[in-house]
Amino acid sequence: MKLALIGYGKVGRAFARLVEKKRSAYPFRITGVHTMRHGTAIDPRGVPLEPAFGPAAADIESFLAASRADIAVEVTPLNPQTGEPAISHIRAAFARGMHVVTANKGPVAFAYAALREEARRAGLEFRHEAVTMDGTPVYNLVRNNLPGVTIQGFAGALNSTTKVILELMLEGRTLEQGILEAQRRGVAEADPWFDIDGWDSAAKCAALANVLMDARLTPQDVDRKGIGQQTPAKLIEIDRAGKKVVLVSRARRTKDGVRLRVRAEVLDKSDLLTAVRGTSNLLVLETDLMGQLGVFTIDPGLEQTAYGLFSDVVDIARSI
Ligand SMILES: NC(=O)c1ccc[n+]([C@@H]2O[C@H](COP(=O)([O-])OP(=O)(O)OC[C@H]3O[C@@H](n4cnc5c(N)ncnc54)[C@H](OP(=O)(O)O)[C@@H]3O)[C@@H](O)[C@H]2O)c1
Repeated sequence: MKLALIGYGKVGRAFARLVEKKRSAYPFRITGVHTMRHGTAIDPRGVPLEPAFGPAAADIESFLAASRADIAVEVTPLNPQTGEPAISHIRAAFARGMHVVTANKGPVAFAYAALREEARRAGLEFRHEAVTMDGTPVYNLVRNNLPGVTIQGFAGALNSTTKVILELMLEGRTLEQGILEAQRRGVAEADPWFDIDGWDSAAKCAALANVLMDARLTPQDVDRKGIGQQTPAKLIEIDRAGKKVVLVSRARRTKDGVRLRVRAEVLDKSDLLTAVRGTSNLLVLETDLMGQLGVFTIDPGLEQTAYGLFSDVVDIARSI
């Protein structure tokens, strides 16, 4: 199975290391790596972990053609306004008959239904496990293990940056100090206000709802309010009352369609959503046949994100 990596930053490199680590059991080969500023590397025998980059391919089409890959792995940065250029990268891969695996929320949050349909028509796979909770199975859990189940809604504490900030503010530190700590831990988005204002949670909410509930919504459709109004004094008072503030992404089916909401909710400390701290995440699904069931992940890192991509590649390799 030959792989073409579009993007070779933190996630792309972690994925390449994982492919190397598991090579004896899973003989995948990375035949091309394409980046924005570093250039392009092509090697039919396998691109090494430290690629010898040449000039960047003229465009994504010529890179994909040169890679001769079976699967394109899209790991470029998220564009929170449009999901581009990742959506175009994915369409270029489909046009060349390649399956696609991505960790980028953009395409799933902005264009999931269209991309799923295009992949289906072309007889290709479009997989995205790493988009929401790193390698923890959410999409593949529902796809592979919950046949016949309808997802009625969900609630998730899915944003690490705001958890880190709120915990520090509860200790009396400022929002700015919280941002610095989240950046130090490597969990903040390039612009941390994207986390604080709830856009990251909205993108995850739209991605989950599009895949699990066929919502056909975008992050702009999410009724969204972030944690910008919180202060240490307010959080300490809430804590004394036995409660905790959590930025929660929620979805529910109504007679008018799927409704999505992101809010800094004041929850009782016995609520499951208050249980995860720091970079840990939790998602509870509301189903018709299985009641409520959930997944959580404790302190995920880059290897877990890379595993989300890897598990999709293995699943595709098994199915073709
Ligand atoms: N980091 C995480 O923990 C995490 C977790 C889950 C999901 N994700 C998602 O995974 C994706 C990648 O994240 P990352 O942390 O690896 O980002 P990153 O470190 O910023 O790396 C991005 C890579 O994409 C390349 N790139 C940018 N624009 C491109 C373009 N137009 N064409 C081709 N290559 C382009 C960059 O090229 P240069 O190297 O030349 O700059 C770089 O190699 C993002 O969508 C992110 O939201 C990340």
